[in-house]
Amino acid sequence: MSDGPARIPAQGRPADELLRLIDERHAADLDWRGGKAFSLVYNPDDSELEHVLEEVGKRYLHENALNPFKVPSVLEMELEVVAMAADLFGTAPNAGSMTSGGTESIFLAVQVARDHSRAQRGIAEPQLLTAQTAHPAFAKAAKYLDVEHVLVPVGDDGRADPAAIAAAVTDRTGLIVGSAPCYPYGVIDPIEALAGIAAERGILFHTDACLGGWLLPWWERLGEPVPPWDFRVAGVTSLSADVHKYGYAFKGASVILYRSRELLQGQHFWYDDWPGGLYASGTTAGTRPAAPIVGAWTAINHLGVDGYLRMAEVVRDTTRRFRDGIAAIDGIEVHFEPDMSLFEIGSERLDIGAIADVMDQRGWNLDRQQGGLHLMVSPYHAKVVDHFLADLAFAVANHGESAGKAATYGGVL
Ligand SMILES: Cc1ncc(COP(=O)(O)O)c(C=O)c1O
Repeated sequence: MSDGPARIPAQGRPADELLRLIDERHAADLDWRGGKAFSLVYNPDDSELEHVLEEVGKRYLHENALNPFKVPSVLEMELEVVAMAADLFGTAPNAGSMTSGGTESIFLAVQVARDHSRAQRGIAEPQLLTAQTAHPAFAKAAKYLDVEHVLVPVGDDGRADPAAIAAAVTDRTGLIVGSAPCYPYGVIDPIEALAGIAAERGILFHTDACLGGWLLPWWERLGEPVPPWDFRVAGVTSLSADVHKYGYAFKGASVILYRSRELLQGQHFWYDDWPGGLYASGTTAGTRPAAPIVGAWTAINHLGVDGYLRMAEVVRDTTRRFRDGIAAIDGIEVHFEPDMSLFEIGSERLDIGAIADVMDQRGWNLDRQQGGLHLMVSPYHAKVVDHFLADLAFAVANHGESAGKAATYGGVL
């Protein structure tokens, strides 16, 4: 960091000098390439995929998808990504759009439900109803969109409790949410029961499959037990699935899908009460980076069904190795019964924070939650799982007092 606030340099600096400086700074960033991180980047361990995505980044760096008709190549690829996702999750091919990430997809689902509740059900101030394990993007959407957020504790299995959700429904409930799976514990909420509660009362229901959307379909095809979570469940009216997570695209790519195109149209914005011409926009962004759209298209087409199945098998087998290894270490355990490739590790009698401190010293980056440590498995982790388990066993046997590092996710400058 330079001394004092940054100033625009009086003279521009040469590219090679800047690249050197950037590389120096970048060297201090989280090193996810070596498999020692368990969140933020999903490392597919696939150099050809990485290469083609970098080429896409170069070709589309400067394009703007604000007006899709000026960049028909991007429009075509966005429509194809949406149609492929719709086919995977079971809705109409034109009933969705691409967004910048899970948070934007969730914002749009909340906005559509808020406006739908007002227009169709006459609810002036609709409520959003979620379990406590729903991603903070819902709380954020509620805040930004001025919707009351009703939060319900989860059941003993870490999953949303249908009885508790049903009891929290009011005349003002505009949207109920279930996660497939939730971030903290990797468990899938009972979507059928929850969406049934919503459907019986004419309430919209959102499945947050930001994490699971691009992995669970393959998980199921591998023969793993996957409770129903997508549009095959009758009451599900919208669904978010991030291509920049287990779809292995680079950042800035999610899809938001609806049961019908009519619901999607609730997110469209048209405006001509200014002198600049009709302004039409399908998502929250104005100027829209094109590269993530093309990147998502490329990742999906490069991997294809066979590639996603191959990745899913590696993730599934590696998750099993992590879980078996953790089960063999006396004093720590995986919480609840995770349905996918992420989970929380905790301990009844040991100081899990102190164990994490030892893991930190050994170069691992485990995310601290209130109840334990969070792990999310990517294909690359197959290469480090034995090393990780050996270090974890060491940390369990040789930790001192916890340094008291806080449970954090995200950050504010
Ligand atoms: C279950 C779930 N929903 C939503 C999100 C938000 O996604 P994003 O960080 O892309 O906005 C995440 C992010 O990890 C998530 O795990």
